[in-house]
Amino acid sequence: MTRTQIRSYLEYYRDLGIDFIYKPQIFKPERVAPPVMTIPVPEPIIVPALSPSGETLEAIRADIGDCRRCRLCEGRQTIVFGSGNEQSPLVFVGEGPGADEDEQGLPFVGRAGQLLTQMIENTAAKEGIPIKRPHVYICNVVKCRPPENRTPLPDEMEICGQFLFRQIMAIRPKAICVLGSTAMKALLNTKEGITKSRGKWHKWRDIPVMVTYHPSYLLRQYNQQAKREAWEDLKTLLHFVYD
Ligand code: URA
Repeated sequence: MTRTQIRSYLEYYRDLGIDFIYKPQIFKPERVAPPVMTIPVPEPIIVPALSPSGETLEAIRADIGDCRRCRLCEGRQTIVFGSGNEQSPLVFVGEGPGADEDEQGLPFVGRAGQLLTQMIENTAAKEGIPIKRPHVYICNVVKCRPPENRTPLPDEMEICGQFLFRQIMAIRPKAICVLGSTAMKALLNTKEGITKSRGKWHKWRDIPVMVTYHPSYLLRQYNQQAKREAWEDLKTLLHFVYD
């Protein structure tokens, strides 16, 4: 399908008032008796499927099933879908599970996770915002642990990213917090690096997105400045969501 054809499909859907299209599907038109005037139909036609409305996290998890859609399934112990408040106005998105997460089936439970919990809870307490970690929703771009904790590959992010997008659309939070450059790449169309993008508001679809450093980076860094910046980013984010 050409770019022009894709554009015209998207414009057609937009004109219908539909601005969210999430997953391409191959659609092969059935052969029908030729009409009097024949118009050539390209075959197969790629028609973007429309997002199902009213989708639940439970249905998305069921769709993932015992996923074998990419190579990450080979080394995983568990699929780490996400955890927290499913009606949260705030969603945190990390990169992918590490060893601890893979073992427990929960996101951000290792050292980086403990730092993230502290950052959320201490910033909230200091700012007089009554929230704890269970009040927010936390998930990752990829749901299976990459071997040796390597960065997820583009095709892995593409495949699993579809589930992330559906999770966010199901929750429809007031804001998203992107943790690190992998999550930033998955959600934002920016060429800027993390140091330039952090601390600023971006958008994923119509949802405001705050970018900040990944907690693992803060653990590795001896740079106190990065930590201070991440705390500032969280402060801005929490006031925006909860004030
Ligand atoms: N790092 C991530 O990006 N996600 C986790 O769940 C744990 C560590």
